Amino acid sequence: MDIEEKFLKHFIKVTQQASIATFSKIGNKNKNEVDALATDTMRKVLNNIEMKVRVVIGEGELDEAPMLYIGETLGKNDEPEIDIAVDPLEGTNFAANNLPGALSVIAATYKNNLLHAPETYMDKIAYGPNVEKDVVDLDNNFNQNIKNLADFKNKNIEDMSICILDRPRHSKIIDEAKKLNVKIKLISDGDVSGAILVTNEKYGVDIFLGIGGGPEGVLAACALDAYNCGFQGRFIFDDDKSIKRANNMGIKDLKKKYNIKDIVKGDSIFCATGITKGELVNGIEVLGEYFMTDTFVTHKSKNIKMNVKEKVKKIL
Ligand code: FBP
Repeated sequence: MDIEEKFLKHFIKVTQQASIATFSKIGNKNKNEVDALATDTMRKVLNNIEMKVRVVIGEGELDEAPMLYIGETLGKNDEPEIDIAVDPLEGTNFAANNLPGALSVIAATYKNNLLHAPETYMDKIAYGPNVEKDVVDLDNNFNQNIKNLADFKNKNIEDMSICILDRPRHSKIIDEAKKLNVKIKLISDGDVSGAILVTNEKYGVDIFLGIGGGPEGVLAACALDAYNCGFQGRFIFDDDKSIKRANNMGIKDLKKKYNIKDIVKGDSIFCATGITKGELVNGIEVLGEYFMTDTFVTHKSKNIKMNVKEKVKKIL
């Protein structure tokens, strides 16, 4: 079943308002404060939405997150029943330090169509639209993937580029990329955006890869699905607590490799509004009592893939 197009604007409003609220605190050097503001605002807007939304991916389990916790149900109506994944503030460092790239993000599907992802790391790989099956695979080594994709795209290896989080855990991949003279785009944070950079040649990223947040992987997969891009991920469980949580969420096979279709089924909506300017979206601009917002939007069934630039008022 497709999500009616009329619902799209409600989700755009959710991330717009969370971004506007957060904007008032950017550069305050307090990650928790900006995150709480984004979360609180997002929750209030969601509670007013004319549908029943269930948080599948949010700020954590009920015992650690009072708002937008996993399983929380919000909204004014009993239907449609929608599952959401949210990251009210993606890039807490960016917002707290007034650096480019902070976003407010939501993804939505009909109930039971979104993977319940534990708060753990995920090994991920994402690549651009319409690449044939088996060209790139999470289980291939880096050299194989980059060479296969270069062949498929008819490009020289040295014209290929990767995007990866700048973390010591990625030093092996980065060294291999250097040896092959592949272009490397190192990002300090924000791997939802990092993964989405493969959607369009204009961003100059052929493959996004490496280990980052699992919830961020699910969010990115929703946008990538609308672009017919490839994504694979595998959760990394390194303690008993996360294993127990995964089991409680119904994850039996802890080593499972998730393809996009295992993560998001059917129709989906994805909205990411810029708080500070980034590659996908502009940041919030203050225009008197209005705010200019820029939201990266996808709605799969309607083939909507666009930036929505809208002048809005703060409603909370
Ligand atoms: P926050 O917005 O929660 O700070 O996450 C930022 C982020 O860079 C994510 O985009 C990424 O998935 C994750 O942190 C990586 O985690 P770590 O900093 O532990 O490597």
